[in-house]
Amino acid sequence: MKIALNIAMISSEAAPYSKTGGMADVCGALPKALIKAGHNVMVFSPFYKEVMHSGRDIKETAMQIKVKLGKKEYSAKIWKEGNFYFIQNNDFYLREELYGSGLNDYPDNHLRFAFLSIASLEAIEQMREKIDILHCHDWQTALAPLYLKMHYKNKDLFSGTASVFTIHNLAYQGLFPEEAMEDIGLPKSLFNYKELEFHNQLSFIKSGLIFSDLLSTVSRKYSKEIQGADFGCGLEGVLKERSKQLFGIINGIDYKEWDPASDIHIKKNYSVSNLAGKTACKKELKKIFKLPYIGDVPLIGMVSRLDAQKGFELIEKAEKNLLGLPLQLVFLGKGSKSIQAFLKKMAKKHPEKVGLKIGYDNALAHKIEAGADIFLMPSHYEPCGLNHLYSLKYGTIPIVRATGGLDDTIVAYSPAGKKGNGFKFRAYTADAMLKSIKKALHIFSSEPKEWERLQITAMREEHSWEKSAANYIEIYGKALLAANINKESGKNKQ
Ligand code: ADP
Ligand code: GLC
Repeated sequence: MKIALNIAMISSEAAPYSKTGGMADVCGALPKALIKAGHNVMVFSPFYKEVMHSGRDIKETAMQIKVKLGKKEYSAKIWKEGNFYFIQNNDFYLREELYGSGLNDYPDNHLRFAFLSIASLEAIEQMREKIDILHCHDWQTALAPLYLKMHYKNKDLFSGTASVFTIHNLAYQGLFPEEAMEDIGLPKSLFNYKELEFHNQLSFIKSGLIFSDLLSTVSRKYSKEIQGADFGCGLEGVLKERSKQLFGIINGIDYKEWDPASDIHIKKNYSVSNLAGKTACKKELKKIFKLPYIGDVPLIGMVSRLDAQKGFELIEKAEKNLLGLPLQLVFLGKGSKSIQAFLKKMAKKHPEKVGLKIGYDNALAHKIEAGADIFLMPSHYEPCGLNHLYSLKYGTIPIVRATGGLDDTIVAYSPAGKKGNGFKFRAYTADAMLKSIKKALHIFSSEPKEWERLQITAMREEHSWEKSAANYIEIYGKALLAANINKESGKNKQ
């Protein structure tokens, strides 16, 4: 008999309501796929300014939350649209950005996100919902599995609840001074290296890594990489200890949003059976970026947070050689001032070859996916990555570094066996990246039939959420086992 699970997710962002990166896409789309598979899902996230202005039909509920954190009491109202619940506390969330202004994090982020966890648990309790799975994402919600154990597990409603913690990016850890413990109601006894202390600081992410019943991350390769010193960010020991309870599940993509056949943002729709519209999309994209005609050269696109993770240093190192090749480049990104400065300088120096837009622009991201010939992701590390999966669907051939989810999903083109869906390089060097780009340019310009075959292979691939949701359901079952919960009775077995 198939059992419908009651799942509560807590996330600091969820598309289409709020978003700074791919975690929002995941927390927007995975719940829908789980519901489609017959499960019940509630998603809790903050009622930010961005949510308020999202133009969605979000309604106020009668629910009011009051919780004590440390010595103070905080309150919230709950808003709702469908399965998405929003915690409204205007002091905490009614701000310009989600996490900080400029390059500085908001100084009270420990309170803002501890409150998100505990207010979500309070809301579940008020609704008298029996929850099988509490699923949390990244450091912002990593305290929830601990609060569950500290304050809720002994209540009948939560006696059958197992927790799952998903790592989207281990490099962001939520580190705060030891004194923050008191503000968020955590006993000093937890401040030790086996629990919440990380080099003399309070680490939110360690709470998720240690106190949840099961761990997952967003690709199989990244689940291995984070158990080593190169990408473990100092937490590789903790992760190695839990390696039997750590699973890698690749993200899916939402084909309702990302499909060239129905995309509302692009100049002309196209599909695997008729690629003609892609040419119109390329023409429009070049116009937007004011790139002149310099021959039938390939257009390479990049849409990214401007962050060291994404490999911009390779582009900077390769600049001279890269711009000597017959190609044009378009960049869309928001983030680091120094990466911005380098991109601006490059675009100013080579206006006929480089187009740049600094900022966050969803419609333009779609236009780049559709209008570019090639999509570049030279990431230093990439837990999963979504843009290369969108690219496959748009027949925009990805060139990626073999790391994390990029390595798990991109098979390097090989002319001999006519295999592959993109181009891939291993060493994190400008030379290795250039070599891969040259290989792609060669096929693009001298073997158009082969290029089209590559596009068709890519477009036919399936990276839907359906498959990934089935994998999550499987690990939810494992989480219940790990927590020693018999789902039939909803009670812990003693
Ligand atoms: P990460 O979460 O590390 O930023 P992902 O590839 O998982 O990387 O997801 C990034 C998501 O954010 C994608 O949906 C991408 O299209 C979007 N994105 C990133 N930067 C921008 C931008 N400047 N404008 C519009 N969308 C962006
Ligand atoms: C993180 C990672 C990215 C991943 C996304 C969604 O932001 O950097 O690789 O795709 O989370 O899981």
